[in-house]
Amino acid sequence: MTMEPLILPPVPGLRDIGVYEAHGGYAMLRKALAMKPEEVTDEVKKSGLRGRGGACFPTGLKWTFMPRQTDKQKYLCVNGDESEPGTFKDRQIFEFNPHLLIEGAVIAAYAMGVGTIYLYVRGEYNRWIAMVQKALDEAYARGYCGENILGSGFSTSFTVHRGAGAYICGEESSLMNSIEGERGYPRVKPPFPAQYGLWGCPTTINNVETIANVPVIMRLGWEAYSRIGHPKHPGPILVGVSGHVNNPGVFELPTGVLLTDIIYKFAGGVPGNKKIKAVIPGGSSTMILRGEALEGVTMDAEGLKAAGSSVGTAGLIVMDEDTDLIRVLTRIAGFYHHESCGQCTPCREGTGWMHKILKRFEKSEATMADLDLLLEVANNIEGNTICALGDAAAWPVQSMIKRFREEFQRRVKPAVAQGPAGSGAFTDAGGGTTKPSALTSVPA
Ligand SMILES: Cc1cc2nc3c(=O)[nH]c(=O)nc-3n(C[C@H](O)[C@H](O)[C@H](O)COP(=O)(O)O)c2cc1C
Repeated sequence: MTMEPLILPPVPGLRDIGVYEAHGGYAMLRKALAMKPEEVTDEVKKSGLRGRGGACFPTGLKWTFMPRQTDKQKYLCVNGDESEPGTFKDRQIFEFNPHLLIEGAVIAAYAMGVGTIYLYVRGEYNRWIAMVQKALDEAYARGYCGENILGSGFSTSFTVHRGAGAYICGEESSLMNSIEGERGYPRVKPPFPAQYGLWGCPTTINNVETIANVPVIMRLGWEAYSRIGHPKHPGPILVGVSGHVNNPGVFELPTGVLLTDIIYKFAGGVPGNKKIKAVIPGGSSTMILRGEALEGVTMDAEGLKAAGSSVGTAGLIVMDEDTDLIRVLTRIAGFYHHESCGQCTPCREGTGWMHKILKRFEKSEATMADLDLLLEVANNIEGNTICALGDAAAWPVQSMIKRFREEFQRRVKPAVAQGPAGSGAFTDAGGGTTKPSALTSVPA
């Protein structure tokens, strides 16, 4: 399954506005400005584009939530925080096609009647912030942003806002608080951003890659776009592949591509032809899959849901047969513990507990009762927090226990690793018996 790259075409120097224009750049902005804003939104809606920031929410539908008649300023926040471990695809757009992003954002702003665009970029992305800022300066100089764009009467400002290195600020409401100069705490929803966003005004938040798809839809037309990849989750998708592969990197592929094709055809297979033990398909928060269960699984919302995981940010992490999965999970849990903003008790306390228990497994100092406790803590976080960072921390733990129970069983303290581990009664560290709680059943 291949296609001509639409988001990252291999055109040398495309970052330069002259080269971008010579390849048809900003023609789609002209086209959009000649249409009615609702027609542009309709085009995006019918294309079937779904957000590339993690939740796969239909983009056109999200745009319709913005009120048409309002006295308030309206905002578009383009989310380039890109802090989920295993995710490095928005960076490619900043580096290789920043004008596509700028063009898409101005078209989106026109469709929603937005007067101010913020591009929120992860603070550590120094080089990429400089690249995108340079592109933005060029776009301003040519009249693609700012006042009376291309003589259309439509005006929108565009500012690059630098984050300060907090994963939580990728969550849309923390991102808005961060732009406002407040602490990056998630907000309770409702009200949703389209009603009460930046400074209490209607706001839409979209991922960088989502927005970069907009000029592509305008160019191909919604019908042709919707025929790319999976019918329920169409379009090109940037898949970042890392871990045990010969050729790691970002690949632009149609949605619906087989995970095995991504790994073996595009990422060059596993070094030493080793077997794959596990794959995390969409960034560290998505549920882990067993290597034996990859056959037929596709990179799209439907395919990964059926396999018991999710697309997330399409950051595929491949782990070979020699990988210490407990170590991997401990590292992931440490990340979420560090990045929890501390606002909600289950996440603030639970992420620390999970990390601590996992460190016991890592050092083979855990008991089977610890496995019950670990799952209990994860289950108590999931669904009980203001934002989805709690879920993001719980899912890797829950899925690892469900799909790789034997890895935990191998790491309990040798003296206490007796009894039918994982079912029936467990012997705990003190020699007593711990009844497995209902919590040993992991959600499917
Ligand atoms: C803890 C956390 C971190 C997130 N980080 C990002 C991020 O770095 N980039 C991003 O686009 N979305 C991120 N999201 C999702 C955003 O809240 C939001 O759903 C997304 O930007 C919407 O864009 P889309 O509809 O185009 O996918 C994060 C969510 C959570 C809960």
